[in-house]
Amino acid sequence: MKRSFVVLGGSGDLTGRLLLPSLAELYQRGVLDEAVEVLAVSQQDWDDEAYRDWARERLTAHAPDLGADERERVVAQLGHEHGDVTSPDDLRRALARVDGVPVVYLALPNTVFLPTLTALREVGLPEGARVVVEKPFGTGIEDARQLNEVLHGLVPESGVFRIDHFLAKQTVLNVLGLRFANRVFEPVWNAQHVDSVDIVFDEDLGLEGRAGYYDKAGALRDMLQNHLLQLLAVVAMEPPQSLDAATLQARKSDVLRAVQADVATSVRGRYTAGTIVGRELPDYVSEDGVDPARGTETYAEFTVTVDNWRWSGVPFRLRTGKALGTRRKEIVVRFKPVPHLAFADEQPEPDVLRLQLSPDGIALEINLNGAGDPFDLEREVLQTTSPPQDLPAYGLLLKEMLSGDPTLSISDVEAEQGWRIVQPVLDAWAADDIPLVDYPAGSDGPA
Ligand code: BG6
Repeated sequence: MKRSFVVLGGSGDLTGRLLLPSLAELYQRGVLDEAVEVLAVSQQDWDDEAYRDWARERLTAHAPDLGADERERVVAQLGHEHGDVTSPDDLRRALARVDGVPVVYLALPNTVFLPTLTALREVGLPEGARVVVEKPFGTGIEDARQLNEVLHGLVPESGVFRIDHFLAKQTVLNVLGLRFANRVFEPVWNAQHVDSVDIVFDEDLGLEGRAGYYDKAGALRDMLQNHLLQLLAVVAMEPPQSLDAATLQARKSDVLRAVQADVATSVRGRYTAGTIVGRELPDYVSEDGVDPARGTETYAEFTVTVDNWRWSGVPFRLRTGKALGTRRKEIVVRFKPVPHLAFADEQPEPDVLRLQLSPDGIALEINLNGAGDPFDLEREVLQTTSPPQDLPAYGLLLKEMLSGDPTLSISDVEAEQGWRIVQPVLDAWAADDIPLVDYPAGSDGPA
């Protein structure tokens, strides 16, 4: 069946930085043999040619290794329709232009998903159409429920792709391999042996001109509600019977249902001016498009428990922030100390397993007999050195959308559970029960 991409928000940052370059990459690697028509819908007053010029420039900037052939292969398939994505008439006109069965991609801020989907529902979609919704899936639990309701009236759940590109990252996929294709980890993957789990995504980038979206979202909605909770779900879920979409989503949903956030542990921060490796960043609140009155956080942290037999009592600490001095993106599984130490040494550091994201890798920190006195212990690190994955995350996701395989997308239940988990924290922050604290850009975050 011939497919066409209809990208709502077709002149936005996501389309230019990730979607079009990833599509080109699929051609380059021979994953797509047929060219895919792409119709971008945006508020820009552009004809097809003007859009193609914009896309050429974006592809050159964000996929510099691409040959001119691949770039032109994408560009040749692009069209543009000026329109308001919340207007049924404009959507009807855009949809009438495409040849293939549409894959409608909402590359839009989360605040406009509901009016957009409501308009789309009024227009209707042909049988076999798919709808792709970026993260965060709405703005809160109520919005997410309404979004699911409208979506289910538009296409069957199997035609909904709720995107969380972290699921397509190499390390996240490696967690499945590490846990379920080896004998050694699963028997110790529980509260009896694991002391704590940290899920950390510290970024050294600031706002990067994304105020229009980010200032209304903030770190908690942008990263923690979706990406970090999905990482948690993959780390903490029960072994699936198979890796098909329904089974994987069901196992992740089970574990998310057991997660409870501890509001009292939450930390809400916002960066002030500072320097990160020679780069000066202004105060977050003085960035273009930021409304200081919103009190948007750029740092979010809290601890959750997973209230089930496997994880009872093990804290999972989730943390993410922008403009931090050190990039640190990893899941750290800390094991408990050995129950008895026969060595004369003091109790050594317990074993630590690091699942590292960008660059992807896995490191196991263990204690071994030292090189000198054979009965002295030394710390050693076993580090994987796998080459980077063939297809970057968005490439893999686009391939899945086109082939209709939702394995790496999020189910309706998972999306709502994500909001259920963070809602008490959102409420406490909205009520100012937890103060918003400043941290200088380039520091380690709030004290
Ligand atoms: C996006 C967030 O989903 O993920 C960004 O909106 C964040 O704020 C980004 O920087 C991080 O993902 P990656 O893959 O770019 O490291």
